[in-house]
Formats: sequence, structure tokens, C-alpha cells
Amino acid sequence: MDSVTEFTSVDAIFSAGHQQVVFCADEASGLKAIIAIHSTALGPALGGTRFYPYPDQAAALTDVLRLSKAMSYKNALAGLDLGGGKAVIIGDPARDKTEPLLRAYGRFVESLAGRYITACDVGTYTPDMDVIARETNHVSARSVEYGGAGDSAGLTAFGVFQGMRACAQHAWGTPSLTGRRVAVAGVGKVGLQLVDHLIENGASVVITDVDPAAVDRVRTTHPLVDVADDTAALLAQDPDIFAPCALGGALDDQTVDTLRAAIVCGGANNQLAHPDIGKALADRGILYAPDYLVNSGGVIQCENEVGGYPAERARLMTERIFDTTLRVFALADADGVPPVAAADRLAERRMASVGRLSTIHLPGAHA
Ligand SMILES: NC(=O)c1ccc[n+]([C@@H]2O[C@H](COP(=O)([O-])OP(=O)(O)OC[C@H]3O[C@@H](n4cnc5c(N)ncnc54)[C@H](O)[C@@H]3O)[C@@H](O)[C@H]2O)c1
Repeated sequence: MDSVTEFTSVDAIFSAGHQQVVFCADEASGLKAIIAIHSTALGPALGGTRFYPYPDQAAALTDVLRLSKAMSYKNALAGLDLGGGKAVIIGDPARDKTEPLLRAYGRFVESLAGRYITACDVGTYTPDMDVIARETNHVSARSVEYGGAGDSAGLTAFGVFQGMRACAQHAWGTPSLTGRRVAVAGVGKVGLQLVDHLIENGASVVITDVDPAAVDRVRTTHPLVDVADDTAALLAQDPDIFAPCALGGALDDQTVDTLRAAIVCGGANNQLAHPDIGKALADRGILYAPDYLVNSGGVIQCENEVGGYPAERARLMTERIFDTTLRVFALADADGVPPVAAADRLAERRMASVGRLSTIHLPGAHA
């Protein structure tokens, strides 16, 4: 997956391979949003809505193009019948999020008639999806009280744990994490529940978080978990596994140069600060599980909710992240490429081979 650099012109949007980019404005409610549909080869584009105070519109456009493209690859690798899309609302969620703004946004989602299905992302939560759902059916991640599947962080953490077990299998010949030292950076919704799985399975865990309340929540349940002051102190403890579970860009040149962990596998999106980091990790013999491969539990839950399937189906599909991760590592070894390149190849093959099935005409269908 090529990285998406800064976009300031319409020509650049075309060259990034996106299908549709919609700018949405409603002056009265203050809504300024961009919905980007990267691909619908496998089905309607599903991806969350990020509510963020971008410094300018170019930054928002760059982000939504990058994020929507990543969703195509994530959904394809997860085996879902979904394409990739994403939306950004420009603003400070603490100040600007109101019922009229969310409902205005919902009406723009509705205008796409199901080509795009939204969900939560940074700055948006299940109650926001309930508000958006008053204007459109094309929304997932609704609260349980409103008929949805609720917050997806639990299934995301479970999927990351499955990916981590596959890493252990590939690196050490056993999926067991018993006795392994795992460093978790960011113990919010995903990190916290990843720690639960790790402790339950006998790993020794060290955590860090910029929010002391997040650290306290982990220590309340797991008093024996160690705490580091920051990510540098966390990695200085020489963990076997580094699990970035905070924001993007955790793996930059400096971190990779000093990292001594055998495995990197975490829930955070966009962990690689730039595309060459995947190769730098491989060159240093560090096994990296691509983020969009192992953190798809959340989107699997959304697809399950939209389809009205039992929760057990989503759990089974998330368990398969173990097998898919092993397939990615096997392909990486066979092709002599970093896992991130192998994951891209698998996703692109599925988008091409399954995506072309719509060329078999079905009477009564539009496509
Ligand atoms: N929630 C999901 O279902 C889901 C799905 C896929 C991917 N993700 C990704 O996983 C990551 C975590 O998501 P979440 O839902 O747990 O978010 P969250 O906001 O609940 O947790 C993030 C945590 O990281 C901490 N943090 C921020 N900067 C930090 C830093 N520099 N060092 C240490 N800690 C830091 C925050 O204080 C917070 O506790 C994000 O990158 C998100 O995009 C989440």
C-alpha cells in the first residue's frame, strides 16, 4: 500500500486511486466533513468517522485519503465483503460536537445511499452513532441499547491477541505467551483489554500511558503489572514483544534503531511513521505484524452488526486473524519481502480476484 503524501489538489486525489471524495458543509451547525471512498471492489465502503481539530483542510484531506485506503486493505484481509472508506469531521469534538452537527453529517452519509457505512473512530463514540442513525441506516457501532453491538475495543483487543499468538508461533515455534515480557504503550480501551488477555495467558506485562487514570484502571485489575514513565522507559526494559496501542507513528526511525524486542504487534492504527520502516524492522530481524492485519476485530464487529449476525460469528472471524497472520508471514518469507508488503499483496489479490466477480452479470442486479 503506497503511502498517501500530502494532498492539496484535486489531481492528487485522482492519482491516489480513490473512487469518490465528498466534501460536506452545513454552515448553521458548523459541519465541515470529508467522506472518502477508496474502493468498493468487495462491497460498500466501511470505515469510521474521525472528529479531530485538523490545523487546516489539506491536513484533513490527507488524513481521510490515507485512512480510507487503509480500510480497503484492512477489510480485504479480514475476509469481509466490504470496501474501504473513512470520514473526517473537522473540529474539536469537546467543543463542536452537537446533535444538529452529527445529524447533518448523518444526512450526508445517507445521501451516499449505502456506498459508505460509518462507524466510530478517534473523537466519536457509540452514542454519537446513535444520533447519526436518526438520519441514516448506513451506520454501525451503535450502542447495545439502540440495537447495536456496542463498543468494538474488546473484539479489537482479542484480534490483536490472536495476531500476537501467531507472531509467537512464527518466531518461537509456539503460540504460547506464557513467561513472555510484553510492553503495552497506551492502555485505553484496546490496550486495557489486551492486558487482560496477556495476564490471563501467563505473560508478564509492563505498560505506559500519558493518562494516569488509564494506568490506574489497569493496576486496579492487575496490581502486579509494571508501569514505565514513558515509551522510552518502557522499551528500555527489553520486552520480548512491543504492543503499540496508543496513537499512530509509534514506530519511527529512532525507535526502530534502538528496539530490541523480537516482535511488534499492537492495536494502534498507522504504526509505521513512514513506509520504509517496515523494511527497517525486517532488516533488524524484528517480526512486525501489520497493524491493519491484526486490529480488524473492530471492523469485523461492525460488519457483523450491519448484517444482523450473532456475536459468535464475529468472534470466530476475529479468531481467524491468527491464521491470516501466519499466512502473511509465510508469504513474506517465500517472496523475501517484509510482512507489510506481503499483507498488501494478499489484500490486493483478494480485491482483484473476488472484486471481479461483479462482472458476472446477474439478471435483476444493477452490476
Ligand atoms: N477501539 C477500536 O475498536 C480500535 C479498532 C482498531 C484500531 N484502533 C486503534 O487502537 C488505538 C487505541 O484505540 P483505543 O480505542 O484504545 O483509544 P483510547 O483513546 O481509548 O486509548 C488510547 C490510549 O493511549 C494513550 N496515549 C496517547 N498518547 C500516548 C503516548 N504518547 N504514550 C502512551 N500512551 C498514550 C491515551 O492516554 C489513551 O489511554 C488507536 O490507534 C485506534 O485508532 C482502535
